[in-house]
Amino acid sequence: MFDINQDRLIDSSLKIEDESEVSLRPRNISEYIGQTNAVNQLNIFIEAAKKRNETLDHVLLYGPPGLGKTTLSHIIASEMGVDIKVTSGPAIERAGDLAAILTNLKDKDILFIDEIHRINRNVEEVLYPAMEDYCLDIIIGKGPSARSIRLDIPKFTLIGATTRTGMLTSPLRDRFGVILNLDLYSVEQLLEIVTRSAKILDVPINNDAAIEIARRSRGTPRIANRLLKRVRDYAQVMGDGKITLKIAKESLLVFEVDEEGLDKVDQRLLQSIIKNFAGGPVGLDTLAASIGEDKETIEEVCEPFLIQKGFLNRTPRGRVATDFAYKHFNCKR
Ligand SMILES: Nc1ncnc2c1ncn2[C@@H]1O[C@H](COP(=O)(O)OP(=O)(O)O)[C@@H](O)[C@H]1O
Ligand SMILES: [Mg+2]
Repeated sequence: MFDINQDRLIDSSLKIEDESEVSLRPRNISEYIGQTNAVNQLNIFIEAAKKRNETLDHVLLYGPPGLGKTTLSHIIASEMGVDIKVTSGPAIERAGDLAAILTNLKDKDILFIDEIHRINRNVEEVLYPAMEDYCLDIIIGKGPSARSIRLDIPKFTLIGATTRTGMLTSPLRDRFGVILNLDLYSVEQLLEIVTRSAKILDVPINNDAAIEIARRSRGTPRIANRLLKRVRDYAQVMGDGKITLKIAKESLLVFEVDEEGLDKVDQRLLQSIIKNFAGGPVGLDTLAASIGEDKETIEEVCEPFLIQKGFLNRTPRGRVATDFAYKHFNCKR
């Protein structure tokens, strides 16, 4: 009936569809909802750098996917009035590729490296002198006659995005002057985002329906926008196009997002801990194998939300399902 693609609806990693909907992406800092801590700090750094007419310090943004790291990087560039070049850790295969990117930047430009924790080791080594002294060390020749020369590059700002700082090597992490953590969003903030997006998409939506979508978005703007678009489709086919609470609830049921915003994978994960491992503790590897998901997805996508909502605890001995999780699935200990 509906074209629910095979992927998790709730998956917050980037999809083609989301890229085409760049219209929903806030363009300036005043449209960027929430993350007050990060935004306040950035405002000060940006203001100060502009006053001194200097390049902004290197910034590391970390937090689960879909929380607004890419968005914030573009906003920083526009607030600074500079150009931004976007790439990602896995995309830079060789040291020479990075050298080419760096030499093509202009003074004060921003280089945004997404998934910076996945950068190659020998590429990473090019970054150290580039970040610290704005130069490249290039080896010319081979064998005993090889010598190294230093090449100056423009004074640029590196913005790195990662899902976890723990995955960065410490020499790389230490070279960032500003490290900002993005948190999951509150329901109120997501409500603001859903309402704003509905206005941009020109979909009529009742406030209680918007709250329902916000509540089920796992604290993540990308998911809020995706659910809104799916519910809009449902409203168009099954109703008169207006998103009412009834339509929202019905469609979310079809898309298998439960009352607390848990999707199939979240549910399988918690139920596996409860049923197969007596509530835990169970190690990440075992858990991943038992539900057939990869560890990264569990750690970076499922767990931050499940922990925030109080469904799951991480202990030194493994993952544990909470009483709240037992109650949610009507299970007894
Ligand atoms: N603070 C915010 N306010 C409003 N919308 C946001 C905010 N952060 C993210 N979004 C929305 O969520 C989408 C995903 O954000 P993105 O920056 O791509 O996340 P990330 O890079 O952290 O994975 C954006 O396209 C935007 O529409
Ligand atoms: Mg991104």
